[in-house]
Amino acid sequence: MMKLKLLAVLAGAVVALPAMAADVTYRKDVAPMLEKYCADCHSAKAGAPTVKEFDDDKARKEQYKKDKVGPRNDTYETVLQLIAYPDAGAFMRRLDDGTSQYAGGKPGNMYKYLCEKGNDAECAANLKVLKAWVGEGGWNLNRFKARGDVPAITKEQLDKLQLKY
Ligand code: HEC
Repeated sequence: MMKLKLLAVLAGAVVALPAMAADVTYRKDVAPMLEKYCADCHSAKAGAPTVKEFDDDKARKEQYKKDKVGPRNDTYETVLQLIAYPDAGAFMRRLDDGTSQYAGGKPGNMYKYLCEKGNDAECAANLKVLKAWVGEGGWNLNRFKARGDVPAITKEQLDKLQLKY
């Protein structure tokens, strides 16, 4: 009886823990979310370019925007290009809810896509999952190079990235 009680307490503790980087994986949590909410505009299926193709040529970039497609984020590798290199912090800048340093109090312009239209609680919950996946201290809005008042991303910040596959 005592044992059962202890088990119940332990199970409760596990459920109560917030999402941790160790539990969140690209395949289990992130890919299905991006497939559901981003693939219409960010997948190979949608005709989206890679980030290099997107940024390579100004005129073509404008055309992509008109066509409502942005850099592909439908594979682990293409997502990492928007997190670490070459487009460091792009994923965080666009998906932040406005509370991070350098967000200027404004949500990124892709944050609203993280949920069914207007379901703020779901957007917030999905952001939490993404932050846990990126890793404690890894959700930084800095670019690879400094811009304006925002310093370049540091090696120490990059070292925090977890991004479990
Ligand atoms: C209705 C189409 C649409 C949806 C849905 C959408 N995006 Fe976008 N996204 C775009 C377009 C178009 C751009 C390029 C224009 C811009 O920079 O805002 C873009 C830009 C971005 C960028 C910046 C990339 C760069 O290198 O500049 C990121 C990151 C991003 N989106 C992530 C996401 C994520 C993650 C989701 C899903 C939660 C999402 N987007 C949903 C259309 C969309």
